[in-house]
Amino acid sequence: MRILILHGPNLNLLGRREPTIYGRTTLAEIDGRLGRIAREAGCTIECLQTNAEHELVERIQQTLDGDGRVDGIVINPAAFTHTSVALRDALAASGVPFVEVHLSVPEAREAFRRESLLADLAVGRVSGFGARSYNYALQGLIGHLNDAASE
Ligand code: DQA
Repeated sequence: MRILILHGPNLNLLGRREPTIYGRTTLAEIDGRLGRIAREAGCTIECLQTNAEHELVERIQQTLDGDGRVDGIVINPAAFTHTSVALRDALAASGVPFVEVHLSVPEAREAFRRESLLADLAVGRVSGFGARSYNYALQGLIGHLNDAASE
C-alpha cells in the first residue's frame, strides 16, 4: 500500500511557527513518525511539503498515472484548506481516498478558518491533537483502506 503525505504552506516552519498553536515538533519529526507507523503496517509513504498551490495540484494529478499512483493521501492543506478550489478539484479528479488533517482546531480560531473546501470529499478528518493528529490520520486512513480492500 502506498500513501502520499502532503503538507501545505508554512508547515516547513513547524517547530518554530507559533508554537503555542502548533507545538514544537518539526515537520521532519512528524514525517519520521509517520514512516515508522507506515512500516509497522506494511505500507510505504512519500512525503511532500510545498508552499506552492500548483505543486500540490500537480502531485495530486500525478496519482492518476504510472509511478505517481497511490492508494491514499493524508493532507494538511494548511491555509489552502480555506481558499483552494483548485486543490479540491484536483482531489476530486484523482478519486484517491484522503484524510484531511490539522494540528489545531481551525473552527475554534478566526472566522475565516471555519470553512474547509475539502472536508466534504474526505473519508475522514482529524484536528486538534497537535503533531499527533498526523499519526491518527494515517492510522485511520490505513484502516479505511484495509476495510475497503477486504469488502
Ligand atoms: C492548519 C490550520 C490552518 O487554518 C492554517 O492555515 C495552517 C495550519 C493546522 O494544521 O492547524 O497553516 O492547517
